[in-house]
Amino acid sequence: MAITGIDINVAKEFLIKGELVAIPTETVYGLAGNALNDSAVLSIFEVKNRPAFDPLIIHTDSLEKVQRYVSDFPEKALLLAKHFWPGPLTLLLPKKQTIPDLVTSGLDSVAVRIPNHPLLLGLLQTIPFPLAAPSANPFGYISPTNAAHVNAQLGEKIPYILDGGESEVGIESTIVGFENDQPIVYRLGGLAVEEIEAIVGKVRLMPHSSSNPKAPGMLKSHYAPRKPLYLDRRETFPEIEEKLTGYLLFNQYLENIDPEYQRILSKNGDMKEAAHNLFAYLRELDILPIQQIRAEFVPMTGLGLAINDRLQRAAAKE
Ligand code: TXA
Ligand code: MG
Repeated sequence: MAITGIDINVAKEFLIKGELVAIPTETVYGLAGNALNDSAVLSIFEVKNRPAFDPLIIHTDSLEKVQRYVSDFPEKALLLAKHFWPGPLTLLLPKKQTIPDLVTSGLDSVAVRIPNHPLLLGLLQTIPFPLAAPSANPFGYISPTNAAHVNAQLGEKIPYILDGGESEVGIESTIVGFENDQPIVYRLGGLAVEEIEAIVGKVRLMPHSSSNPKAPGMLKSHYAPRKPLYLDRRETFPEIEEKLTGYLLFNQYLENIDPEYQRILSKNGDMKEAAHNLFAYLRELDILPIQQIRAEFVPMTGLGLAINDRLQRAAAKE
């Protein structure tokens, strides 16, 4: 098990030595290393068991620092950065040489974000490099939203987990890139599309681009629990299940089924609460003595788009 603590100086020591530390963010926990140190970046891929063609997001604490790593900042990107950073928004921008090719898997753009978590911002302020950090889960599994989730899966492989409590947003950042200076959403996430559009007008959505070189990591069978997950509208759930089943539901229990085998994302139908609970509940269901999980689609408003996206990826078959 990794040591879990709240000491940013301990985290800093490990990072300066080129070692990895799990970090809290408002979206999900990250597996962080010095983004400017090739060997630290390599160990991120190793520890996560992540293919080298899937690039990493770099995290820092100020717009001024971001400018050191990117060679161009389209007007709409700047508008979004000013509105939503620190926050669950990742921008794809042309990279400067300072960012190693390993971080971007050889692409000429780099994914950057300023996360909104006080403990992490404190750490980022004291280190002279950005942190490359994918979500702190083994490749393909559900992202962690608390320190215990990280410890359960990567605890043997890292020395320290900076414990910042539960991730408030609960779902990864929204990734926005630019073509001819026009914003394109490549990954739906913790910042709702409506909020982005309120600032920069209509945006294009290209979230399912597993074949798109802009988001090579958007592989279909991502975020998957170990138990098979079937996704549908609840009206079409079978009357009688042949297998022991757990349920992930939006705002209402199913009658005639033991509530212990049901998780309700938000009793009030609040999308932010639903996103916050999504991954934690999937994990809870995954360790119940059941054979399969049945989940229902949530309404397609606000963070509902990102929630349904994750559920679809979790449900994807090989
Ligand atoms: O909320 C988040 O974004 C979390 C926290 C830790 O910040 N991080 C996260 O990282 O979700 P990860 O590695 O699990 O997902 C990053 C995604 C991948 O799908 C990757 O393909 C995409 O970002 N990405 C990174 N750099 C890219 C680039 N230069 N061009 C296109 N896509 C990129
Ligand atoms: Mg991930």
